[in-house]
Amino acid sequence: MARIAVVTGASSGVGAEFVRQLAAGAGGPLDEIWAIARRKDRLEELAAECAVDVRPIAADLTKAESLAEISQLLEEEHPQVQWLVNSAGFGKFGDAREVSPDEMADMVRLNCLAVVEMCYRTLPHMIAGSRIVNLASVASFIPQPGLVAYSATKRFVLDFTQGIDYELGQVGIHACALCPKFMRTEFLDNPGEQSDVDHLTKIGFEDKSHAVASAIRAAVLGKSLCISSPDMRLAYVATKLLPYRLAIAAENLILSLRPA
Ligand SMILES: NC(=O)c1ccc[n+]([C@@H]2O[C@H](COP(=O)([O-])OP(=O)(O)OC[C@H]3O[C@@H](n4cnc5c(N)ncnc54)[C@H](OP(=O)(O)O)[C@@H]3O)[C@@H](O)[C@H]2O)c1
Repeated sequence: MARIAVVTGASSGVGAEFVRQLAAGAGGPLDEIWAIARRKDRLEELAAECAVDVRPIAADLTKAESLAEISQLLEEEHPQVQWLVNSAGFGKFGDAREVSPDEMADMVRLNCLAVVEMCYRTLPHMIAGSRIVNLASVASFIPQPGLVAYSATKRFVLDFTQGIDYELGQVGIHACALCPKFMRTEFLDNPGEQSDVDHLTKIGFEDKSHAVASAIRAAVLGKSLCISSPDMRLAYVATKLLPYRLAIAAENLILSLRPA
C-alpha cells in the first residue's frame, strides 16, 4: 500500500514548502505526494524539483465536485495517508462595509469547509501515526478588526484541529494547527484594503521554511498547536488572559507605536 502525503495549496507559499520538506523526508518515508491546487502548471514545476513522486491534482476546493473527485481517487487507490496538510486558503482585508460578500463566502468555503471535508474524507485512509496539519494563523487568537471574517475562519480551524486531535489521539492520529504570523508568499499579492494591510502587518513577518519545519516537528511529536514565532507564543498567552476588547485595544496600541 502506497504511503502518501496529501497537501492542499501546494502551488505556492506554505503548501509548496510543505511538499518540498516532506519530499526531502522531514516527516518520514513517503512513496508519493498528492499536490492539490487550481494551477496545475505550478504543481508540475514543483513535482519536477522533488525527489519523491509528486502527483499534481488540479482542483478548486470551493467546489463540492472537486472534493468528491478526491474522495473517489482515495477509494479507487486505497493509499495509506501518512500526512494531510491543509494549506489552501486566502484572506481579504477591509472592514465589514468594504468586503465583497461573495468573496467572503468563498473564503469560508475554502478556509473552513474544505479543511473539514479533506480531514473527514482522508481519515478512513489514515492509520496510527498519521498526521494532519491545518493552517490556522496568529489571527485566530482574537478577532482582528480589518480582517474579521478571515480571523474567524482561522479561529474555526484552530478549534476544529484541537478538537479532532483530542478525538483521534485515542487511535494514534494527531492533528496540529500551525499559527504563523505573516510570511512573504502570494497571500498578500491581492489583499484588499491596503490601510488595514499596512496596520496589521506591523506585527512582523516570519520565514515560511522555519514555520513549516516547526509544524512538521510539532506534528511528529503529537502536538495540537504550533506557534512558530516566539513573540507570538507570548501574545497567545496574553490573549488567553485578557477580555477580547482589552486584547484588541492592546494590540492596536502596540501596532500604532511601531514604525510603518
Ligand atoms: N502568508 C501569510 O502571511 C499567512 C499567515 C498566516 C497563515 N497563512 C495561511 O497559510 C495558508 C497558505 O497561505 P500562503 O501564505 O501559502 O498563501 P499563497 O501563497 O497565496 O498560497 C495559497 C494556496 O492556496 C491555493 N488556493 C487558493 N484558492 C484555492 C481554491 N479555491 N482551491 C484550491 N486551492 C486554492 C493556491 O493555489 P491556486 O491559486 O493554484 O489554486 C495556493 O497554492 C493559508 O491558509 C493562509 O491563510 C498565511
